[in-house]
Amino acid sequence: TDPLRLGIAGLGTVGVGVLKILRDQADLIAARAGRPVTVTAVSARNRDTDRGVAIDGFDWEDDPVVLAARDDIDLFVELMGGADGPAKAATEAAIAAGKDVVTANKAMLAHNGHALAEAAEAAGRVIRFEAAVAGGIPVIKALTEGLAANRIERVMGVMNGTCNYILTRMQATEQGYNALFDEAAKLGYLEADPNLDVGGIDAGHKLSLLAAIAYGTRVDFDNVELEGIQAVTLEDIRQAADMGYRIKLLGVAQMSGRGLEQRMQPCLVPAASPLGQLEGGTNMVVIEGDAVGQIVLRGAGAGAGPTASAVLGDVIDIARGFRVSTFGQPAADLRKARPARAAVP
Ligand code: NDP
Ligand code: HSE
Repeated sequence: TDPLRLGIAGLGTVGVGVLKILRDQADLIAARAGRPVTVTAVSARNRDTDRGVAIDGFDWEDDPVVLAARDDIDLFVELMGGADGPAKAATEAAIAAGKDVVTANKAMLAHNGHALAEAAEAAGRVIRFEAAVAGGIPVIKALTEGLAANRIERVMGVMNGTCNYILTRMQATEQGYNALFDEAAKLGYLEADPNLDVGGIDAGHKLSLLAAIAYGTRVDFDNVELEGIQAVTLEDIRQAADMGYRIKLLGVAQMSGRGLEQRMQPCLVPAASPLGQLEGGTNMVVIEGDAVGQIVLRGAGAGAGPTASAVLGDVIDIARGFRVSTFGQPAADLRKARPARAAVP
């Protein structure tokens, strides 16, 4: 059987995680995919960096746009990051050259997701992004596949591992924000621009993607009510604990009579609740559907292994021939469905 040939741009935390799983689990992946999954070419900024995984068996491309359009790849895997710039240019080039795309880049999708999805649809290609929301938790597959028969009533949760790590460690160790920020960095959780994490923007990107999938709307990141964790003090955390609460960066998306409400902000949650007990880089997504009731998904929301797990789940789906668009509806319907901005009480 013909292999599925990948071009991978971005060899940082996630890209290296993907290469290690492909190296260590080649047989399992080939069996699940129904054919071998191979890497043809890779790209990153610096060719000489020791990445802890061998890359000399792959062609090297300095320019990810050139990589994305190569004739000898079938699928472009975008793991560079950034809302625009090379990630978007390379994704567009891949679609124009007739490649499918898998990405973990929530910033790019929150700002350009529907334009990219429409371009992919017009070209008969798919763009999939399970890793972009809640790392290793298959929440997009839950919404688009397992819960496809439900009207979604609410999606909520903790979707940024960095913030959850810092907040839970502030509570547990009584250390200040700065020391814990450095610990989160060592774990590979942080975005290249960490203000995206602590400013709540990264979690807002994820919430806007889940809301668009859950409600069949266009991605509407601009209308997420956002507040980060920078202003949360040890004293706030102590006072919350004294009252039996924890402070979490909590996102909620729901459709009301006023349209789509999307909020991402520090909230008090009961200490004994599942959300209150969520520790470290763990994420939790709670989905309420009219038929299923409430379901809770919990797991690693960041880091090399969990994120690579989600990337490769999408790669295997494409290798198997699963070609349903993640946004789930024809682009024309999505255009009509854009709701009015919600008034936030
Ligand atoms: P890193 O910063 O660790 O890695 C980024 C990689 O992209 C590096 O290898 C870098 O090259 C390469 N790169 C950057 N710019 C260019 C360019 N212009 N041309 C070629 N290569 C370039 O990021 P992560 O691996 O952490 O994240 C990658 C993506 O995955 C991001 O979109 C992020 O939001 C997303 N993500 C990350 C998670 C995590 O836990 N880290 C979890 C979920 C999603 P070089 O190494 O040479 O500098
Ligand atoms: N910076 C992100 C986080 C990575 O801390 O959750 C996962 O998307």
